Amino acid sequence: MHKFLDKMAGKDKQRRFDEMSTFSNVYQNFDFKVPELKNNKNEIVDLKGKWNEIHFKKNQPITLELACGKGEYTVALSARFPKRNFIGVDIKGARIHDGAKKCLTAEQENAAFLRTRIELLPEFFAAEEVSEMWIVFSDPFPKDRHAKHRLTSPFFLDVYRKICKKDCIINVKTDSELLFDYTLEMIAEQKLPVYIMERDIYKTGYENELLTEIQTFYEKQHIADGRKINYVQFSLN
Ligand SMILES: C[S@@+](CC[C@H](N)C(=O)[O-])C[C@H]1O[C@@H](n2cnc3c(N)ncnc32)[C@H](O)[C@@H]1O
Repeated sequence: MHKFLDKMAGKDKQRRFDEMSTFSNVYQNFDFKVPELKNNKNEIVDLKGKWNEIHFKKNQPITLELACGKGEYTVALSARFPKRNFIGVDIKGARIHDGAKKCLTAEQENAAFLRTRIELLPEFFAAEEVSEMWIVFSDPFPKDRHAKHRLTSPFFLDVYRKICKKDCIINVKTDSELLFDYTLEMIAEQKLPVYIMERDIYKTGYENELLTEIQTFYEKQHIADGRKINYVQFSLN
């Protein structure tokens, strides 16, 4: 029975991946050693420094949602803020599928998705092309020796510096105390300005609708497990 269910889940994942590859709002990097992007017609496209001109056809500030999974923030923010452009980034195509399909169906033309490793972002964005980032429930990598893989490690902060505007805002939402404490440590070490810091965003009396009204797939599971959700907003400058 388990083998049958696994096989069905695998087939559904493949179906979602294949369908995602046909979406006009998705770009993919198929080979991490060859930093090029392909569109839904399997054509190589050069979007570096040209996302607004070539894809969005509207010159608006760009926000990235990193480790976007099903892209709940890209879907919700692009609907709320039509004067900004949003790009969800994740390596897993079957997950990106869900958000990309929602944005296509709702004709949210200010939203796009990029399937790549976050490490490679400077290959696909020019200096100062990005105005804001959301890092939502990224993996905490609990072992110290894997800390450099955390999306708020000095390595990743330097990756972001290559593509972000000087005053770029970074929003981190996580259930992981370890990742949250680590992020605060990195912020302190690099003397970065913190604008908002809140442990337990759902506590009575705290109001920030962008945080509480938009819930991701993983977040819903963490809330059901009774975990607190933490948030920090800081700048790279
Ligand atoms: C725990 S999931 C969170 C997904 C989503 N944000 C949510 O809250 O439901 C972490 C996501 O990060 C993605 N991810 C982890 N490391 C990555 C990397 N280096 N580059 C691209 N995606 C990555 C995984 O594929 C996965 O979808």
